[in-house]
Amino acid sequence: LDNGLGRTPQMGFNTWNHFGCNISEALIRSTVDVMVATGLSAVGYKYINLDDCWAVNRTAAGVIVADPVAFPSGIAALASYVHSKGMLFGLYSDAGTKTCAGRPGSVGYEKIDAQTYAAWGVDYLKYDNCNAPADQTPQVRYNAMRDALNATGRPIFYSMCDSIDDPSAWAKPVVNSWRTASDISDSWSSIMKIVDKNEPLWKIAGPGGWNDPDVLEVGNGGLSTTEYTSHFTLWALMKAPLIFGCDVTKMTNDTLRILTNTEVIEWNQDSLGIQGHRVKRGLLSEVWMAPLANGRFAVVLFNTDPLLSAHMTVTWAELGLTAGSKYTARDVWQHKNVGLYAGTFDAQVAPKGVVAVTLVPA
Ligand code: DGJ
Repeated sequence: LDNGLGRTPQMGFNTWNHFGCNISEALIRSTVDVMVATGLSAVGYKYINLDDCWAVNRTAAGVIVADPVAFPSGIAALASYVHSKGMLFGLYSDAGTKTCAGRPGSVGYEKIDAQTYAAWGVDYLKYDNCNAPADQTPQVRYNAMRDALNATGRPIFYSMCDSIDDPSAWAKPVVNSWRTASDISDSWSSIMKIVDKNEPLWKIAGPGGWNDPDVLEVGNGGLSTTEYTSHFTLWALMKAPLIFGCDVTKMTNDTLRILTNTEVIEWNQDSLGIQGHRVKRGLLSEVWMAPLANGRFAVVLFNTDPLLSAHMTVTWAELGLTAGSKYTARDVWQHKNVGLYAGTFDAQVAPKGVVAVTLVPA
């Protein structure tokens, strides 16, 4: 969507995967405070997004009403708190009669809801697709909210949460990002399944419109540090939104270290905006690549063997690099240069692990 937003993938926090409907203004305030104190905000995680369950009903005039118990100060005050800390605030709604959790949906109320969000100081809308009326296509319903948001004059990032209607075929002029798979869970099989759905769509993504394989599970406890490192690396390389959904008040050192790896974040936020993709796939091994600005390349050796470490090699021909060209490989997890390479790059890779390097022209 050409609304000036999402020129690089959006970064931030979302409540759904860790907190579900157990949300409140206290949770948002403490999340913001921790994100500022730990440096998460400083490395780019700017959006603080409330997912489903913040709304309860509508007034007689049709204005959406936030849960007065969970949000006694109101949404405008909460948005203002988020802004006072240099961050941005997002809400969730649904292009149907009710949200997935049964709260009021926005279909038929697009204009009044968009006006309300703008008046409250909302910067981001995640728009879901549950309980949709059968007589209106998703294109019609998502266009209606796009136009309503646009008419407010406030820049509001527009994120589509519909993977059922193959949005990759039609979403780019409509929204700033679109889901490409069903809900992620905090498991390795979920992550591997989603990667396979998201990867083939790489050519569609670019500044203003991104494939969204769903939020990061880093920090939710179901996976090992190696697995979360691979998950984060692939999401960053695929130019996925870097929206995480863990409890930041209980983050381990490893969670914070993974989420704040600025060398990996730089891949994600690279100005070319080219989504990384597989260039080679074996039975238990994958090589991924994304061109970066200034003639550099992001390369990931991914060992999908669950048990055994592997020695992996990729050639310049497989990466599409010019024969005879030389590159310095910068390991973005070890934060050091690991050597000068001409013709091939190779490394030992841990089970379910990645070796992730930036190839810099030498
Ligand atoms: C389905 C979406 O895919 C989730 O990310 C979350 O927004 C829930 N709906 C909320 O009900």
